[in-house]
Amino acid sequence: MNIGIPKEIAPGETRVAIIPETVARLIKKGHTIQFEKDAGLASGFTNADYEKEGATLVPDASTLYANVDLLVKVQRPLAHPAGKHELEMMKKGALLAGFFYGLTYPDAAKKAAEQGVDVISMDAIPRTTKAQRMDALSSQTNLAGYKAVIIGANGLGKIFPLMMTAAGTISPARVVILGAGVAGLQAIATAKRLGAVVEVSDVRPEVKEQVESLGGRYIEPPREEGEDSADLSGGGGYAREATPEYLKKQQELLAKHIAEADVVVTTANVPGRKAPMLVSAAMVASMAPGSVIVDMAAESGGNCELTRAGEVVDHNGVKIHGVVNLPAQTPYHASQLYSRNLQALIDYITKEGQLQLDLEDEIVQGALLVHQGAVIHPKVKELLG
Ligand code: NAI
Repeated sequence: MNIGIPKEIAPGETRVAIIPETVARLIKKGHTIQFEKDAGLASGFTNADYEKEGATLVPDASTLYANVDLLVKVQRPLAHPAGKHELEMMKKGALLAGFFYGLTYPDAAKKAAEQGVDVISMDAIPRTTKAQRMDALSSQTNLAGYKAVIIGANGLGKIFPLMMTAAGTISPARVVILGAGVAGLQAIATAKRLGAVVEVSDVRPEVKEQVESLGGRYIEPPREEGEDSADLSGGGGYAREATPEYLKKQQELLAKHIAEADVVVTTANVPGRKAPMLVSAAMVASMAPGSVIVDMAAESGGNCELTRAGEVVDHNGVKIHGVVNLPAQTPYHASQLYSRNLQALIDYITKEGQLQLDLEDEIVQGALLVHQGAVIHPKVKELLG
């Protein structure tokens, strides 16, 4: 297959889909690779690095898009500064692989079908053991969980670790993490490594053991009458949506922990739903000035009532970071991991350098949104009516 690596055009995107290390591996498998000038520069990979591994430099985006059988991207397709929409620049019958977010942007899937472009959406790769190596959402979220804690630590006027000095002892910072999924678990590990005392809330009691094995203290979820604790496990490592009454109880339970926290990192998420609101304005008001909230769920409505996506809100001296696209803040490693995810996917869907899509395969079924001029993913189809 002729694979193309473009320079990302979305504002603020610093990652690249495939890094030089992967170029060499793909060429060994019988593929040819073309790349756009400076495609990897913002992630720390020069044109010379790509050429050294055997990729061919294409002078402009239009030529690259029109040439390749597979275009690998980080961000969803957009209108290109060169004039046309990225989907319109691609060759008919070619395949696009990237974070497409078909459930949020179903019209883009329709447009791809009209253009005769097939789409594999990396965010729709199922979170199963078999698909683990291709699970780009997890690889990127993991790094984002790390970065969220670093942002919290950086914004705080205190240090994280306990420190004994000749001038006296400094007590460790208190960090509260809401949600112990992929991002939350990495956030716990990072805050612990920096020396903080870490408390964690999640509505799936099964994560208690994982939280404790990382050195976090698990805050038990609200108890419901007749049960030891309410279990909102939704299967596959995801939660079910909580009722407003449950969320109210949970807020009451969290109030004391939040009031005493120096840093709160929120990652609570229920797939396909608005983020649960866990930190009310009153809870923010109870925090000491100088404390920091890093809300990773900013783009899906926020876990904090005062969050504004892409902004830092100052509420009586408490800073609320509505962080977006954190993986772009660690572009070298985010690109490295994403590139390996893509390599695993390409290995999976090709044989001797040729595309072989098995439409009966569960991973292909989960991630292939558009095929041969038609939107085939059931949920995206449903959204399009
Ligand atoms: P995940 O689904 O693996 O984990 C979310 C966790 O929240 C689950 O463990 C779930 O049980 C828990 N949860 C659900 N309702 C809760 C409640 N009421 N109280 C406490 N915990 C609750 O999700 P993942 O992949 O870890 O992502 C977390 C969030 O971070 C998502 O909103 C995702 O979109 C966002 N994200 C943001 C990035 C950014 O740059 N801002 C980058 C990557 C992810």
